[in-house]
Amino acid sequence: MALKPNKNELQRIIILNPKGGCGKTSLATNLASYYALRGPMPALLDCDPQGASMRWLEKRSKIRPPIHGVAAYKQSMQVTRTWQRRVPQETRKIIVDTPAGLESPQIHDLIYDASNVLIPVMPSPIDIRYAAHFIADLLLAAQLDLGSVRVGIVANRTRKNTICLRQLLRFLSSLKIPVIAVLRDSQNYVRAADEGVGVCDLPLYRAKEDFVAMSQIVAWLDDSVLPAEEVAPAKTVPTELPEYSRLLH
Ligand SMILES: Nc1ncnc2c1ncn2[C@@H]1O[C@H](COP(=O)(O)OP(=O)(O)OP(=O)(O)O)[C@@H](O)[C@H]1O
Ligand SMILES: [Mg+2]
Repeated sequence: MALKPNKNELQRIIILNPKGGCGKTSLATNLASYYALRGPMPALLDCDPQGASMRWLEKRSKIRPPIHGVAAYKQSMQVTRTWQRRVPQETRKIIVDTPAGLESPQIHDLIYDASNVLIPVMPSPIDIRYAAHFIADLLLAAQLDLGSVRVGIVANRTRKNTICLRQLLRFLSSLKIPVIAVLRDSQNYVRAADEGVGVCDLPLYRAKEDFVAMSQIVAWLDDSVLPAEEVAPAKTVPTELPEYSRLLH
C-alpha cells in the first residue's frame, strides 16, 4: 500500500466508479483546474480510451494555468513511451480519470498505489444500488487499509430537497466512507467542461457554491498530506508515473 505522501511527493488521486456517467471526468477536470490555479502544475492522467479528459485539456486556453496531460490509454505494452509516463519535476498532484466498466482486478491494481480514491455517486436509485455493490467489492476485494489509502465519496449532480438526494445521503451515511462534498446539478459544470476550465475559473458571483464544494474536496485531499517538516530529501521526489496504462491492455 502507498504511504501517506508528504508535501514534496506526488499525491496520486484516483477518481473511480465503474458506473458510467456519474461524473468521474467532471470531478477529475475540476480538481485539475483547481490545483492548476493554486499551483504548482498538476498532472491529469486519462486512463479512459474515450479520452474525455484529454479532449477537455485540448480545449483549455493557453492563457490558463497549465495542466500536464498524460493520455495513458494510448500506451501499449509493446510501445513503452516513457515520456508519457513522466510528470514535470514540480508536479505534486496527479489526478487519474478512469473509464466506466472497470473490473475488480483492474480496480485493485489502480488503488494499490494511490494516495486517495474519490468516488463520485449520483442520486438515482440505479446509481445508489450500483454504488452499494461497487463499494462493498472495493473494500472486500482490495482489502483496503483505510489508514494508507484514503477513500472519500462525492455526491454529484444533486438537487436540494429531493427524495433521491435524501435516499443517497441515507445510503452514504450507512457506509464507513466519508462524504466529503455534495456537488449540485448545475450548468456551471457543463459549461466548464465545454470550455476547458473548472468551476473555480468561472465568475464567483455565478459559481460560488460550486467553488466552495470543490474547496471542501481539496481541503480533504490536503489533509492527507504530511507537513513539509517531514519531507524526505529532494532527490527522492518521484517523477515516474505508476503503470496505470497496463490496466487497459
Ligand atoms: N454536477 C454536475 N452538474 C451538471 N452536470 C454534470 C455534473 N457532473 C457531471 N455533469 C455532466 O454529466 C455528464 C457525465 O459526466 P462525466 O462525463 O464527468 O461522467 P463520467 O463518469 O466521466 O462518464 P464515463 O463513465 O462515461 O466516463 C457530462 O455531460 C457532465 O458535464
Ligand atoms: Mg469519463
